[in-house]
Amino acid sequence: MTQPIEGFSKLTKEQKIDWLTTHYTTDPEAAKALLKRYWNVAEDVQQLHDEFIENTITNYYLPLGIAPNFLINNKLYAIPMAIEESSVVAAASKAAKFWLDKGGFKTQVLGTEKIGQVHFMYHGNKERLTAFFEQVRPKLLSDASAITKNMEKRGGGINKIELRDKTEALDHYYQLHCTFETLDAMGANFINSCLEQFAKTLKAEAQSFPLFSEEEKAIEIVMSILSNYVPDCLVRAEVSCPVDELKGGSSESSRQFAEKMVQAVNIAKVEPHRAVTHNKGIMNGIDAVVLATGNDFRAVEAGIHAYASKDGPYTSLTHAAIENGTFKFWIELPLALGTIGGLTSLHPLVKLAMEILGKPSAQELMQIVAVAGLAQNFAAVRSLVTTGIQEGHMKMHLLNILNQLGATEDEKKTLTHHFKKHSATHNAVVEAFEKLRSTK
Ligand code: MEV
Repeated sequence: MTQPIEGFSKLTKEQKIDWLTTHYTTDPEAAKALLKRYWNVAEDVQQLHDEFIENTITNYYLPLGIAPNFLINNKLYAIPMAIEESSVVAAASKAAKFWLDKGGFKTQVLGTEKIGQVHFMYHGNKERLTAFFEQVRPKLLSDASAITKNMEKRGGGINKIELRDKTEALDHYYQLHCTFETLDAMGANFINSCLEQFAKTLKAEAQSFPLFSEEEKAIEIVMSILSNYVPDCLVRAEVSCPVDELKGGSSESSRQFAEKMVQAVNIAKVEPHRAVTHNKGIMNGIDAVVLATGNDFRAVEAGIHAYASKDGPYTSLTHAAIENGTFKFWIELPLALGTIGGLTSLHPLVKLAMEILGKPSAQELMQIVAVAGLAQNFAAVRSLVTTGIQEGHMKMHLLNILNQLGATEDEKKTLTHHFKKHSATHNAVVEAFEKLRSTK
């Protein structure tokens, strides 16, 4: 059995790979060769990647694709998307083109407020804690001024600090619930630094508050951390057009198509099993742009799914309606994004993605990302209520299957052509491939 290893992080990259492949792979030489094949030939690029995280042994590539023709608030964007799922970029591009001559996407940022909390335990009288908080509030702000100075110069900073009594949920539990404006930064470091300073001040000042008993002075800080649930850092994106201009599928009238779209969204609103998949389709677009622009997709995912159940049951993030002959399709979701700091200034491809997007502000990026989610959902639901998802999906997946089968470039060409007119199920592809090989 493999023994635990001490000091793994201190080994060189080569030593880490040696140890790993010797103990955990059946063919260490092949595994080593594979890992090294994915090293970047440019040493400076590789070093950058080595230093992003601890214990880097190689790079894990995702394709970076482009979905062009996105008209957003009358400006044309080509949207970079980092994603492995074969049909996503194609679907986004199709949706962009569909809405291009119908006025495109209209978006609006509804709020930019970020949240952080100092969670603490207090054993004592609530009125005295409130009095203490009122007294200490200016000091909380002034003690954090070294951290907030630059952000304030740019127009951001701490918006509000509130004392919240959470003792009904958990004995002795209180919090400082704080809101921030972090402008073009995602703001995690800024917020966490402010919160940790608030916690220090709170604890220190409690020692000398004259109304506190000894027990009350012993405020116990549990943790200080931003919240990835940001329901007031919100963006809305919308498309609309006269119902008559919609063409759903070959056999359906525009009206029927519009009604089916609304029905499909309404099902996702009331049925959590469907809502999760419906929103997964939205996240196909959102995550791909969030990743391509070097933002934290885990934070975005966590916040968005919490928002999808803000009123109780988990529900659809998109909405659809037919009003006075107009089909409307829109999304509203929270997005805490940054266009400065973090990976955005480090990763060369992220920098390029930002350039392609016209060096957007965080607010502009929120709008682009929301549009990517809406477009993806439109494309998915449109397929679902017309042809079904498999037709387009398998066409896009065809190359993956052919690569798995070891098809040559010529074979790929022949079979791609063949499946333009035939349904590309997995079995059908395997059969056609075998038939082609046997005729040679
Ligand atoms: C697949 O990645 C996403 C879909 O399942 C989304 C949906 O069902 O709406 C097609």
